[in-house]
Amino acid sequence: MFTWQLWCTLFCVLWLYFLWTLCRFYSLIFTIPGPIGYPLIGVALKVRRREDVLKILKNFLDRYGSFLITWLGPIPSFVTTDPQLIQDILNSQNCLDKANVYRVVNDVAGLGLITAKEPHWSVLRKMLNPAFGLNALTSLVPTFNAEANSLLKMVEPLVDSGEQDLLPLLQNFSLNVASQTTMGCGVNENGNIESHQLLNISNLQESMTEIFFSPWLISRTLRQLFGREDQYFKAKTEIRGFINKLIEPTLSKVSEQLKDKNNFLNLATDLKNRGIFTTQNVEDHSVQIVFAAFETTANTVAYTLMLLAMFPEYQEKAFEELCSFFPKSGDFDVSYSDIKNLVYLDLILNESMRLLTPVPIVGRQTMRDVRLSNGIFIPKGVQIAIDIFHLHRDKKIWGENAETFDPEHFLPHNLQEKHPYSFIPFTKGIRNCIGWRHALISIKIILAKLLRTYKFSTSYKFEDLDFVEDLTLKFKTVPLLDIQRRDC
Ligand code: HEM
Repeated sequence: MFTWQLWCTLFCVLWLYFLWTLCRFYSLIFTIPGPIGYPLIGVALKVRRREDVLKILKNFLDRYGSFLITWLGPIPSFVTTDPQLIQDILNSQNCLDKANVYRVVNDVAGLGLITAKEPHWSVLRKMLNPAFGLNALTSLVPTFNAEANSLLKMVEPLVDSGEQDLLPLLQNFSLNVASQTTMGCGVNENGNIESHQLLNISNLQESMTEIFFSPWLISRTLRQLFGREDQYFKAKTEIRGFINKLIEPTLSKVSEQLKDKNNFLNLATDLKNRGIFTTQNVEDHSVQIVFAAFETTANTVAYTLMLLAMFPEYQEKAFEELCSFFPKSGDFDVSYSDIKNLVYLDLILNESMRLLTPVPIVGRQTMRDVRLSNGIFIPKGVQIAIDIFHLHRDKKIWGENAETFDPEHFLPHNLQEKHPYSFIPFTKGIRNCIGWRHALISIKIILAKLLRTYKFSTSYKFEDLDFVEDLTLKFKTVPLLDIQRRDC
């Protein structure tokens, strides 16, 4: 009897909340078209499967145009692929907070830079910026080179041994580089991360995406009820333990021992020693930074190799350019000026991040009322989804071959007419990716070394790629790569 009363009360509260939301946002709902879905849950049932999210969004965009309103649960979400509206949003002081669905990141990683809210975020970002500035990053070029050399040694046994999945190896490698360059200590110093731990990270992301698009699963009780808690809890605990072990030695250092402030963990530990951060803050930021850094970077390298294997004519052009810079095989160093001068590699990397954008959707929310440049008024509390994946594949912007791989999309004369927010793999504006330079430098060094030393091929067809939204972009089936040694 008591349970019945409880359920009825809950139901009534939700309905009242829904009606209150309708009144609050009625101007938005009646001015912008979009799929409403069912009362209280909106379109949540449609997007609950990770492999369906991007297809459903494409369907909505085809039907309603480049901006629309939809409902995920009882809260409206403004979805857009319009570069001008995206510029308005990413440069507005009123859209700095992350969308509510990012609460799952807090649940896993604590409150770090990715999810911090205003006014806390601005202060944090200013404090952590020095570790990601150009000077700090150019000083890391020798480390990136040394690590890329060790990657070549890891790839060597895979040469001429048939098609294989390079992702686990690249993720393992990239986790080591991320911890080396942001924490100052490599994973490998404490022994390689074990494959079950990498699997845990992947499991955790699956659970996080599920919670992202089924926001009620943020409640532990509901997760337990739907049988979703065990895998999530195990993965979360193990990964936090792994990062804590990594940062423990630095955390106990006094400020005089933390000379290199280019290193994120030294900077954060110094802030702790000065009473600005707690130990918990340092742990949370470390988990978020390593998480933000390693998988995006590894996937970008892997996906670029896959595309080049599927489009060998562009791989040959990249190889020719690399041969002109590094004619002798064996150990060679890629300097910061090489990175700037490898223009064809740059076209390839941009095209890869356009077509297989590493972070397909970014979510924000309006902290105050906002008026966009097309006159649309978005009240406080609306969730915003910037659909980077479909922005990057919009035929109106990128032309008829928007959905195929062609590095010429990034030749200067092809970019002239394009809106500056047509290509935003790291987003732009006030709260863009703090690690974008770190990512570009490390990825270019790794790609230069791999493509100069090996030829990658695959029997997998580009047309067969099937995408999964997992906070980062994934494939239903990962294309396997064949590796052969080559010389100029
Ligand atoms: C190819 C690699 C990468 C891609 C595509 C990428 C993309 C992104 C995107 C789309 C965001 C969200 C921005 C927004 O909300 O507007 C973001 C945020 C962030 N990224 Fe990256 N990222 C990459 C690598 C890295 C690396 C290497 C690091 C650190 C070393 C990093 C650290 C962060 C952090 C801390 C944030 C949160 C920034 C804030 O809210 O102030 N990322 N990244």
